[in-house]
Amino acid sequence: MTRLTILNPDGSLAIETEAAAGQSLLSVAQILGLPLEGTCEGAMACSTCHVLVAPADLPKLPAPSAHEEDMLDFTPHVGPTSRLACQIELTAALERLEVKLPPGHANMQGR
Ligand code: FES
Repeated sequence: MTRLTILNPDGSLAIETEAAAGQSLLSVAQILGLPLEGTCEGAMACSTCHVLVAPADLPKLPAPSAHEEDMLDFTPHVGPTSRLACQIELTAALERLEVKLPPGHANMQGR
């Protein structure tokens, strides 16, 4: 289980929960009804699943692939800890993860 904290763009708490290993951060966020669009469903073709990982938690994650880095190059509001939530897999070893939703991200699914 991963203790997951997701913050709104203003830093306020959106949700705190525990999530089972074996699913992506995007999947968990969508199940919880958070406004992460994920239009391409993890194919790394949209970047609408962009999140800002807490700096302390970034080293816990595997490095992004070259394709993920390329996608982030064209993503608004990107920062040094930006990642694509579809590429973050929750694992048993990942005990805690905090991410923040970027400012002004699209919510085209109306969630
Ligand atoms: S869902 Fe499209 S890049 Fe993550």
